Amino acid sequence: MPNPPTLTPHERVLVALDAPSLAEALTLVSLLRPHVGGFKVGLELCTAAGTPRVVAAVAAAGGAIFLDLKLHDIPNTVAGAVRAVCALGPAVRMLTLHCQGGAAMLRAAVAAAAGAPHRPLLLGVTVLTSIDEAALRDELGVAAPLAAHVLHLAQLARDCGLDGVVASPHEAAAIRGACGPALLLVTPGVRPTWAATGDQRRIMTPADALASGADYLVIGRPITAAPDPAAAAARIASELG
Ligand code: C5P
Repeated sequence: MPNPPTLTPHERVLVALDAPSLAEALTLVSLLRPHVGGFKVGLELCTAAGTPRVVAAVAAAGGAIFLDLKLHDIPNTVAGAVRAVCALGPAVRMLTLHCQGGAAMLRAAVAAAAGAPHRPLLLGVTVLTSIDEAALRDELGVAAPLAAHVLHLAQLARDCGLDGVVASPHEAAAIRGACGPALLLVTPGVRPTWAATGDQRRIMTPADALASGADYLVIGRPITAAPDPAAAAARIASELG
């Protein structure tokens, strides 16, 4: 995953490895590695198979890793977890943290990663897309409108030294406008016109997501559930080029 200005279209695509087992995930990595920029590995696979084991196996298969652990704890604990991730080696290119952990937690993560020989890009998760306006207000007690709260947390991430944020493509243009060109934007909720929507609601096509300011696209089922995953990934890259 090189820096965005030098990215080819296929390098902008990160495949969500939402596979039930490490073996199935590795099959996808070997099929897709030439066609995409990397692989998002999340809590399910890491909890089932063990994060160091998953990282080592995906790295051995040649995959660059977006480690979506969504860290959220006291600063000291998150700093320790970030150091542990940095020690997993150069294949881990991106790591997620919850912005709602607050400035001290985010700054502790940045400090823990600084100087590591293999420092992943640190990405803040703003508001989960499963949280709607009512849940934010009534369950989480946040009075601000959802869109304003997302922008607030994206600016917090930038001000604390994070490299980027994960956001809906529908939030990308506003975040880009508020946070400037340097903050990396990674967007899930992406669907080519020819793919099933599934349970995603606020979707955008890959080309529209990039036009809205996204740098990387997280795409799962349109690729992984396709009859020919490599062909689906190549088709997406061709639509971006
Ligand atoms: O299969 P699909 O393309 O919907 O996969 C999208 C991936 O991005 C899944 O791993 C999902 O958990 C993740 N994600 C998301 N929306 C968010 C954050 C993460 O869809 N807001």
